[in-house]
Amino acid sequence: MAAKVIDGKALAARLRERVKAHVTRLVEEHAVQPGLAVVLVGENPASEVYVRSKGKATKEAGMKSVEHKLDAATSEADLLALIDRLNRDATIHGILVQLPVPDHIDADKVLAAIDPAKDVDGFHISNVGLLGTGQKAMVPCTPLGCLMMLREELGSLSGMEAVVIGRSNIVGKPMAQLLLKDSCTVTIAHSRTRDLPGVVRRADIVVAAVGRPTMVTAQWIKPGATVIDVGINRIEKEDGGTRLVGDVDYEDVAKIAGAITPVPGGVGPMTIACLLANTVTACCRTHGLAEPEGLTA
Ligand code: GUN
Repeated sequence: MAAKVIDGKALAARLRERVKAHVTRLVEEHAVQPGLAVVLVGENPASEVYVRSKGKATKEAGMKSVEHKLDAATSEADLLALIDRLNRDATIHGILVQLPVPDHIDADKVLAAIDPAKDVDGFHISNVGLLGTGQKAMVPCTPLGCLMMLREELGSLSGMEAVVIGRSNIVGKPMAQLLLKDSCTVTIAHSRTRDLPGVVRRADIVVAAVGRPTMVTAQWIKPGATVIDVGINRIEKEDGGTRLVGDVDYEDVAKIAGAITPVPGGVGPMTIACLLANTVTACCRTHGLAEPEGLTA
């Protein structure tokens, strides 16, 4: 039987509606408007697309949106000075520095400079540590979106075998922490894993986040498994054009999986919706207001 398609676009639209409703309540009942500042250094075309869509979605949710586009030659000191200003700006509740930053800037230093309470990416080591010890943290948007899709599809994840392919700080590691928190038995697989197909075949839940186009094929998948594809890879078509594919060979895996996310239209829209949700969460925590249900892990 063909896999069920997990519609990330529809789920993200519902989440964005909930975010928007809560923003309206914050503005009307507490005179507080959540604000998100996005900082982009340099001219990476993919980053520019992401930053534009983040700004648009923020405004559509009724929040304050500020974009800082800095020249590629911006010094680390100037970037740190901007972050310091945003940390002290009471109208800004979330700060996101789009990665990658140019080579002359130390990304770890930049992430460490962001106030953890405003760290809507969840990349600050304080938030990494809080998440790793099961405490209240800001949770990275992409893994949070994946978790929401898995819960929507499967209900309780308790006791399930989960294999995360990829060990990045942005996706793989926080994804594994979230699955562990939901009582999965978690394996983090990566490029050095021996018998990767055999390891993945154990999984009830597969999260692919390696950045290798269509690497995961049907032979790797246990029949009925739920497959979340985080990859966004642009490949050339035979006619010379390009198209987006994930890390999963969608057509092949859809024949055997129980449920699968498409690319595009799966994880991508959920990531942006979770960024908005995180901004509302950060705003509520800063002002000591009740956090809405279902916006975080
Ligand atoms: N670059 C690619 N993904 C991300 C992300 O989730 N956050 C930031 N800040 N940069 C990214």
